[in-house]
Amino acid sequence: MGKFYVTTPIYYVNDKPHIGHAFTTVAADILARWHRLSGDDVFFLTGTDEHGEKNQKAADAKGKTPQEFVDELAVVYKDVWKKINISYDAFQRTSSATHEAAVAEFVSRMEKNGDIYKGDYEGWYCTPDETFFTELQLVNGKCPSCGREVKKIREESYFFKLSKYQEKLLQYYDKNPEFLSPSFRADEIKNRVKDGLKDLSITRTAVKWAIPFPSNKEHTIYVWVDALISYLSGIGWPSGKSDSNNDARAYWPASVHLVGKEINWFHTVIWPAMLFSAGIEPPKKVFAHGWWTVDGKKMSKSVGNVVDPVEMADKYGADAFRYFLMREKPLGEDGDFSEKALIARINGELASDLGNFISRVVTLASRFDGKIEGTPELNVHLNAERINALIDNQELSVALEEIWLFLKSANKYVNDKSPWDLSGKELGNVLYNLIEAARIISILISPFMPETAVKINSQLGVHAGTLKDCRFTDFNGKITKGEHLFNRVQ
Ligand code: ME8
Ligand code: MG
Repeated sequence: MGKFYVTTPIYYVNDKPHIGHAFTTVAADILARWHRLSGDDVFFLTGTDEHGEKNQKAADAKGKTPQEFVDELAVVYKDVWKKINISYDAFQRTSSATHEAAVAEFVSRMEKNGDIYKGDYEGWYCTPDETFFTELQLVNGKCPSCGREVKKIREESYFFKLSKYQEKLLQYYDKNPEFLSPSFRADEIKNRVKDGLKDLSITRTAVKWAIPFPSNKEHTIYVWVDALISYLSGIGWPSGKSDSNNDARAYWPASVHLVGKEINWFHTVIWPAMLFSAGIEPPKKVFAHGWWTVDGKKMSKSVGNVVDPVEMADKYGADAFRYFLMREKPLGEDGDFSEKALIARINGELASDLGNFISRVVTLASRFDGKIEGTPELNVHLNAERINALIDNQELSVALEEIWLFLKSANKYVNDKSPWDLSGKELGNVLYNLIEAARIISILISPFMPETAVKINSQLGVHAGTLKDCRFTDFNGKITKGEHLFNRVQ
């Protein structure tokens, strides 16, 4: 039994989650659920990034303390994750006491290691992205990442000797080729590191809603340094005490940090350098996925095309929404969201391929009064090992395609065998193959569509299986015909 620790980004709490946040979180949920099915000891962390100027200002405007303000917003995230069945083990909030203590300890270790010095920072800052830029990096005087206004900052600041870790990072990338995933994004990071690293300003004097810098309380810690340490504080580092009340420190190093491509640099350069400095092993893998656009455009409040995951789940069901996000594009790539495309997949792959299959099989089997037994014939189309390998490699859309190949061969088998013309032992054998295929499909899709898997199992009268049960064996369930799994959408 291996340990598997997966994380999502620790999201900014100021906006409610949209389908981009849901995408990363559903992908992490599927990895967590899959590894649980394969018998691994899994820890799944998500959470909210709650410090910084943005929240301080927004709270002031509402006449609330920043803590009151973020307390309300963290609940919004938890509610959305509940709605779409996210099975996280811990939800870390950067304003929690355990996290603040972990950050103070971590930064003190960096300081003891001689990696922090005092200087003056002069440069540009994008408050929405909480990111520093040099004059040269600006595009038309605006933030090169989001295009919004930046402001000039000149103040005393403590710096982290990021430049010291250039060689060590390059060596780490070479020795651990999986660390920079997917591989097509690796060169960009390596080349930027080879070009040279500048020391990083890691404290501010103007930002009050933040964690105090331990050795000079006039300063507070830069929100990114604060937020990255959630991946450790969320599993109880350093004390063993955490808000989820379990000692999960043994899950480190993380198996995979799932992040969007825009924050890859923080996770593949700054974070491992911080860990080197604190004397802690880096994570095994950072997987930087692509972005969703909506109807061909970047999602933004001003365009008015921000899609709400709760609305999608209410309208189409959490499972169909989850399925679409994972099936429509490879995890690493960019892709486009549209309700039209979602509906096409519901009608085709879910209502037709999957829903009709289960309905036909269960209808036939519930009318049959012989014994459902026979010889495996459909098993030749099942490649559970390949599906497992694909998921290990975060190739979730391809894994779904592979599951669908099996489903389609089962559908073809129904047509080829015409069970409605059969009876007795012959019918028992065909039903055996179909029912076993349905039972195995239910296991394979359960991480993607947990509600649907429960419905299939209840019609087949079987308990939820694990990956070990994805093979043709004796069928011992009790069939009860239920409702259609998916209704067609007009
Ligand atoms: O960056 N398509 O938080 P954040 C796909 N607090 N994924 C998207 C997306 C889109 N259009 N938009 C957002 C932060 N995401 C920091 C993280 S971690 C220590 C600190 C997803 O609220 C994607 O995972 O801006 C992206 O990386 C994340 O939301 C950014 O969330
Ligand atoms: Mg962002």
